[in-house]
Amino acid sequence: MADSGAVELLAVPGSLRRTSSNRTLLEAADALAPAGVVVCMSDHLAELPHFNPDLDGGTPPAAVGAWREAVARADGLLLSVPEYAHGLPGAFKNGLDWLVSDPAVLHKPVGIWNASARGEHAQASLAEVLRTMSITIVEEAGLTLPLLDGPLTLAGLLDAPTPRQLLSDALAAFVRRIRHGRAV
Ligand SMILES: Cc1cc2nc3c(=O)[nH]c(=O)nc-3n(C[C@H](O)[C@H](O)[C@H](O)COP(=O)(O)O)c2cc1C
Repeated sequence: MADSGAVELLAVPGSLRRTSSNRTLLEAADALAPAGVVVCMSDHLAELPHFNPDLDGGTPPAAVGAWREAVARADGLLLSVPEYAHGLPGAFKNGLDWLVSDPAVLHKPVGIWNASARGEHAQASLAEVLRTMSITIVEEAGLTLPLLDGPLTLAGLLDAPTPRQLLSDALAAFVRRIRHGRAV
């Protein structure tokens, strides 16, 4: 957990694709982060073994330990997730499964982002999974910003006034909620 003034966000792209538009969205969050807010990009999902309850007790595999540590350290998670076949991408769901038994995720604030205009099945599924895990969805930090038909590069995204504003507003709402949660 970061100290009382600073806020640390873990940005988790739900796509492993090298040029993922969801990753671009999260890179933009890093570029637009206000003072006192640090956005750390997570590359943990690609390293995780398949979830297996037999490996979930005692000392977990090293990659799982690193993933859980990064999640525990963060004040909030930004999840930007595409839809695959009306569901969540397998690698991303696998990452969530490794967190189910981890008390550090309880009530962790999460903002749900999506770089596509579609994907309502995956978004609904993600919300259901997070609620089941007692993770706190911060509705006002949610963002759907279609990139595939627009300024797909990070530079293009940061140059586009409306997307830039939407990103900044979602980030500000998320940070406000996290700071408010510390105060109560
Ligand atoms: C295997 C696969 C299945 C997909 N299934 C859907 C789908 O059911 N609904 C949808 O809206 N898009 C679907 N898509 C499109 C992706 O959700 C879309 O391209 C997304 O923006 C890609 O995210 P990325 O750029 O972060 O990789 C699918 C893409 C792939 C590769």
